[in-house]
Amino acid sequence: MSKPKILIAREIFPAVLAKLRQHFEVEDNQADVCWSVEQLSQRLADKSGVFAMTTERIDAQVLSAAAQLKICANMAVGYNNIDVPALTQRGILVTNTPDVLTETTADFGFALLMATARRITEGEHFLRSGKWDRWKYDMFAGVDIHSTTLGILGMGRIGQGIARRGAHGFGMKVIYHNRSRLAPEQEALCAARYVSKDELLAQSDHLVLVLPYSSASHHAVGAPELALMKPTATLVNIARGGIVDDAALAQALRDKKLAGAGLDVFEGEPQVHPGLLGVSNVVLTPHVGSSSVPTRRAMADLTADNLIGFLVHGKALTPVNPEVLR
Ligand code: GLV
Repeated sequence: MSKPKILIAREIFPAVLAKLRQHFEVEDNQADVCWSVEQLSQRLADKSGVFAMTTERIDAQVLSAAAQLKICANMAVGYNNIDVPALTQRGILVTNTPDVLTETTADFGFALLMATARRITEGEHFLRSGKWDRWKYDMFAGVDIHSTTLGILGMGRIGQGIARRGAHGFGMKVIYHNRSRLAPEQEALCAARYVSKDELLAQSDHLVLVLPYSSASHHAVGAPELALMKPTATLVNIARGGIVDDAALAQALRDKKLAGAGLDVFEGEPQVHPGLLGVSNVVLTPHVGSSSVPTRRAMADLTADNLIGFLVHGKALTPVNPEVLR
């Protein structure tokens, strides 16, 4: 019997590619070519599965010729790059990579918070540029982390990981806002208190955004929300571009309405708003929140296992739209 055909949209670990080749006829992209919508669409025409990443927009347009596609396995926990209702309507299963990246991404959120609060990259740029000629009493004086108030917007698995780090590692008071309140035992594990969004904005010394992107969370933090924050506060976004209004944030940073920001995700990335590039009190990283070697490998393995599980054994591990299975 011939093997099902799959497409891997971007370069991937050679060992994961080899595993997939055992089960599938694979069209890979180890050259990591940037395909246009038409090129991706043509390649999907004869495929049963696609291994996608956040860089691919998978929607009705891309799927126009994909008559045989049964599964879109996304190598990310977030799946706003996929028009899930459009795929569900076509009976195509979507899978993501929850859990395997939770702790690594929470580590990164905390790293970005600390780098921002203590102005680490600003100090490094200064040193590398050869300007450091003597010690000075207020050199790169930042804001404290320990014993301050940590605010978390979006209290899923990663948000809870950040809360635990803040509460138990740094003695922070943790407050959060989320669509739904956590169960009391989960709140106790994170030592976190539920507050309204306005209270969260007003009380946080460090506000970390960890909510999924959707039309409902578009510009969840824009000029009106930034105006509620303390001028000594920092803002960290490890969630998705578009949750923050980057132009409004650049303005707030320029006007010193905020102490600093740590951003791993951007509106229209890999483009970055020029206003953000022009201010010094911001730490910028290229969407690498889950990027430790073991975690990226675990995400790739889970994506591959979803393809193998579903197309070979009829059972996906982490479905996003399980209703298509019924
Ligand atoms: C990365 O951004 C992810 O959603 O896993």
